[in-house]
Amino acid sequence: MKFEAPAGSNLFDRSQIVGKSTPRIDGPLKTTGQAPYAYERHDMANQAYGWVVGSAIAKGLIASMDVSDAQSAPGVIAIVSAPDTKPVGKGIANNAPLFGGPEIAHYHQAIACVVAETFEQARYAASLIRTTYDRSQGAFDLAKVAPDAPLAKGDDSKSTLGDFDAAFAAAPVKLDARYTTPDESHAMMEPHATIAAWEGDKLTLLTSNQMVAWAKQSMGKILGIDPANVRIDSPFIGGGFGGKLFIRADAVMAALAAKKAGRPVKIALQRPLIANNTTHRHATIQHIRIGAEKDGKITAISHENWSGNQNGKNGEDATLQTPKLYAGANRLTANYVATLDLPEGNAMRAPGEAVGHLALEVAMDELAEKLGMDPVELRIVNEPKMVPGSPEKKFSDRNLVRCLREGAERFGWSRRSKTPGSMRDGRWLIGMGVAAGYRAGPTEASGAHVKLDADGRITVETDMTDIGTGSYTIIAQTAAETMGVSLDQVKVELGDSRYPKSSGSGGQWGAASSTAGVYAACVNLRRAIGEKLGFDADAATFEDGSIRSGNRSYKLTEAGALSADGEMTYGDFKDDYDVGTYAGHFVEVGVDAYTGVTRIRRMLSVCDAGRILNPLSARSQVIGAMVMSAGAALMEELAVDPRFGFFVNHDLAGYEVPVHADIPTQDVVFLDTLDDIVTPMKAKGVGELGICGPGSAIANAIYNATGIRIRDYPLTLEKYLSEMPAVA
Ligand code: MOS
Repeated sequence: MKFEAPAGSNLFDRSQIVGKSTPRIDGPLKTTGQAPYAYERHDMANQAYGWVVGSAIAKGLIASMDVSDAQSAPGVIAIVSAPDTKPVGKGIANNAPLFGGPEIAHYHQAIACVVAETFEQARYAASLIRTTYDRSQGAFDLAKVAPDAPLAKGDDSKSTLGDFDAAFAAAPVKLDARYTTPDESHAMMEPHATIAAWEGDKLTLLTSNQMVAWAKQSMGKILGIDPANVRIDSPFIGGGFGGKLFIRADAVMAALAAKKAGRPVKIALQRPLIANNTTHRHATIQHIRIGAEKDGKITAISHENWSGNQNGKNGEDATLQTPKLYAGANRLTANYVATLDLPEGNAMRAPGEAVGHLALEVAMDELAEKLGMDPVELRIVNEPKMVPGSPEKKFSDRNLVRCLREGAERFGWSRRSKTPGSMRDGRWLIGMGVAAGYRAGPTEASGAHVKLDADGRITVETDMTDIGTGSYTIIAQTAAETMGVSLDQVKVELGDSRYPKSSGSGGQWGAASSTAGVYAACVNLRRAIGEKLGFDADAATFEDGSIRSGNRSYKLTEAGALSADGEMTYGDFKDDYDVGTYAGHFVEVGVDAYTGVTRIRRMLSVCDAGRILNPLSARSQVIGAMVMSAGAALMEELAVDPRFGFFVNHDLAGYEVPVHADIPTQDVVFLDTLDDIVTPMKAKGVGELGICGPGSAIANAIYNATGIRIRDYPLTLEKYLSEMPAVA
């Protein structure tokens, strides 16, 4: 059902509930263990345990697979294995089949699943499967294949404006540098997990997935069944970060195994399988050239980017932010994707921009250094008046300069010494760094069903997901505000494909989009109430369980039980407006003068993302993203074995992520902006903004502390220890 907003609606500008810091309504369920994650669900009887076997080669063929010993091991119910099952079709956005064999597309691709009465029996039996392979040579080293990589598919893989080469050659001040970022793993707390059950030809998946409607379609396509026969239920998710945007092997293997076993099967991908079996963020090689006048005005800017993926599929487009952040009449961006036989690269939190900033925002720092300019001022001088390269577009609402100025003020930026290596605190060399941040503010169509019961309570149903972000709470706030009831009168049901299709969670579109859909459904419910009781709902005030319309008033309960659907969809405003979110990121580090160890001392991010629906959970989103950006800067890297084509450090012992001791002080400040263009909520997402920039501010702070510029992430100390300045 399409939705028409009430004329002149300013419902949320009253902001009784929306916009107020609100503890998560699902918090008590989570802290008391009553919010079941997929693997813990008991609402399906007779579950058997599945164990996934991953390929031990990266490329080639399975020559033989002997499952006879496994089959007769204690407790084994069924084995799904490559030789007895034809390769399962490709799913939406999956580059390699999620069940491999005889052809192998990547290391740890699922090749078998053992189902047993207990987890231990399944694991033991799986160890008895003997597989032999014909291994073939693959391409695993991005640096080797990048020079011959073709342009990425799509119109905007290369764009030019003016004459970059001539302007760059003529520029009095030039920066020309290359940066590299490694493959990274999502490393979410909850592994990919699914319980699958068949009832005739109907399949139910209790799973952990960010995009319920995609999963339903994808599962139908992969299994060759009608998607209408697939039910997805994903009410609680222990982190996704883009790794759970798509159906993965846990769901496919559970479905196949449950069919063969004739009973429900539960699978959690083993942690050591996740890095190579699922998706990861692609490594990049980035070449940035910037030419500027002596006053800092950029005259030429070029950002070229190389990454790799299977079958020439999408890479990591690290150039995305470059046309949005800085002015400059002569421009070039290009995005190249090489073919690699590593596991599938795909979306990870702020795909593109997260690593694009790691290069661009260091390049800007290097340019500021060459100009002898303050890096905050350099960015402000280059603030664009219109969208560079898209003169037909306006920025919907853009307050980057305010973010930078307010951040500098709050952080005490004026205390920074311009001369690298000149600030000292005992054994620590102290440095401060800054970076700008940009991430798109997309919106997607989103629907909901809202019910009013006879007691005046509201229930919202939508297939929207909460990946730890706080969706439950902002949806409850939206419904409470729109229907004029208190928060505890609202119940929110998420993640079930039987509910109306929502935007799902991804690309930081979830908060703005899903609440707009809930708002639409609530406005329709108000209208249904108005129709029943005989008043104009759009002109009435719903407050404290009552309704005022002119000089009449009603109790919400007078309406009896009613319900309404609603969906927010969008016209073509994106042709006229560039909708973005912006940030100024500031970091202070200490680098140990003797050992070279880098310690973050303080982080501040000042964010501009329109109305902040729930400052408490939004802050937590930005803090999490800042931590992830610190990880990308200082420690995160999937190490590629270029001989055998797999990520060596494929568990949380070898894949290092920040811990509490790595992150002492974080501040997040939201500007009090409203974006009138995007949705009736005037809100944009923040979940990915916080990972766009802080890592480069860390790199810049290390330079300010030591005078050493490292362009190869992560910035681990063996890369700069030998260059450390001599100290007394
Ligand atoms: Mo996000 S990487 O689109 O979940």
